[in-house]
Amino acid sequence: MGEGGWVDGVLSKGKKMDFFHGEFGCPVCVKDVLAIIRALTSRWISEGNQMQLLLDVGGPDRVSRVQRVEAVVDFRGCNTPLIKAVSASSVDRGIKSPADISMNITKLVQTLNFSPT
Ligand SMILES: *[C@@H]1O[C@H](CO)[C@@H](O)[C@H](O)[C@H]1NC(C)=O
Repeated sequence: MGEGGWVDGVLSKGKKMDFFHGEFGCPVCVKDVLAIIRALTSRWISEGNQMQLLLDVGGPDRVSRVQRVEAVVDFRGCNTPLIKAVSASSVDRGIKSPADISMNITKLVQTLNFSPT
């Protein structure tokens, strides 16, 4: 999880931070992405012809931004009072950001016989 290091930095400084509770995604381990690319590449090469396949890639859990941070905090065993869950609509970020970019990885798991981290 790329967020681990960044969250560690914020929490170790004892800063209070706001995180959105209404935006969802499926954080994915970078090693899983590499394994998926490797599996698809070797299948493509061994089959020797073009492959047309559309797969959603993501981690196994649909979580909000604040849940991701809480998971890092739980893992590190520190306190959570510095984390505040806020609505994504409470902040104008100057861009439209989709509320849910979670992925359905059923097809990925079936196609590559893959178990996500
Ligand atoms: C995920 O995709 C599978 C087919 O790949 C489908 O059967 C299933 O209903 C989907 N799940 C959700 C929650 O949409």
